[in-house]
Amino acid sequence: MKILVTGGCGYIGSTTARLLQRAGYEVWVADDLSEGHAAAWDGPMLQVQLREEGQVAAMAAQHRFDGIVHFAARAYIGESMQQPLRYWRCNLLPLLHLCACFRGVPIVFSSTCAVYGEPEVERLEEHLPLQPVNPYGASKMAAERVLSDRALAGAGSYVALRYFNAAGAEDDGLHGEDHRPEPHILPRAIQNALGQLEEPLQIYGTDWPTADGTCVRDFIHIEDLAAAHLMALQYLLEQGESVALNLGTGQGHSVMEVIQAVTRLVAKVEWQETARRPGDPARLVAGVEKARQLLGWTAQHSQLENIITTAARWHQQFPGGYPT
Ligand SMILES: NC(=O)c1ccc[n+]([C@@H]2O[C@H](COP(=O)([O-])OP(=O)(O)OC[C@H]3O[C@@H](n4cnc5c(N)ncnc54)[C@H](O)[C@@H]3O)[C@@H](O)[C@H]2O)c1
Repeated sequence: MKILVTGGCGYIGSTTARLLQRAGYEVWVADDLSEGHAAAWDGPMLQVQLREEGQVAAMAAQHRFDGIVHFAARAYIGESMQQPLRYWRCNLLPLLHLCACFRGVPIVFSSTCAVYGEPEVERLEEHLPLQPVNPYGASKMAAERVLSDRALAGAGSYVALRYFNAAGAEDDGLHGEDHRPEPHILPRAIQNALGQLEEPLQIYGTDWPTADGTCVRDFIHIEDLAAAHLMALQYLLEQGESVALNLGTGQGHSVMEVIQAVTRLVAKVEWQETARRPGDPARLVAGVEKARQLLGWTAQHSQLENIITTAARWHQQFPGGYPT
């Protein structure tokens, strides 16, 4: 079976593309290389700007795919607060064009826990109302709605996977996170500990309503995310019904706990407090029962120690990230 992975030169997409390939699928990646890296994926690749409908249509004229795994998007909450229109364009146009050009093809979609906003519950479950507090989350919520309307019209099924905080690197140490600049707390803490960051790690507020005053997040290893995409794809190819599922561990770690763990496992992290960032919820932890029941998926690689040691190995071996 032939599968299209959009954004397959990016962090989560490339790891997933490799797993799908190992599982026996013929995998084609489509990426504009705006954020991703050619060196992250060495299989078949189409350099395509998915915001241009003509380019997506040209791809559809040449290739018939049995399934699509759609990662390509912009994914920075802070940036989305400053450039909301960019997020609506970048996160909706590619999906609309894929839906228009690949009618009937099942889609596994990268959604996010940012669709929930900040309900005051211990764990976020899929039945909660979606009330995003930033344009990034709002654009993903709208994308889920597009997929749901398409499915109701009989034009193709979908699984929306709402990931919590993706983290870690592949076990071989050869593939990991390389965003430039890197906005995520975990790789930044490791880069700081390894002396790869010139400035101290910024912590956005220590007065949040959490046990130690720093934000709490649910970190999920990219190998676990990749496995969930494989299972979701198989589920759709076996005629499973459209659904949205959380991907997390169900366990939260505060920013301060991450800093302490990186200090223990890698080296001391230099940090300094700065103001809260608009659009950041205090606590985001997944309810994970639905993905377990429907797909049989649970996180296997997402212990904080494993996330940090795999990511540290990657950053140590490739201090400048992927070669350009
Ligand atoms: N990283 C996280 O913690 C996280 C959490 C929740 C959801 N997500 C979602 O997962 C997906 C992947 O995230 P990531 O961290 O791997 O991001 P990434 O930036 O590493 O990968 C995205 C890839 O998509 C490509 N791309 C973007 N826009 C494109 C376009 N218009 N046409 C063609 N290619 C395009 C980029 O070049 C890049 O290779 C995103 O949809 C993101 O919203 C990520």
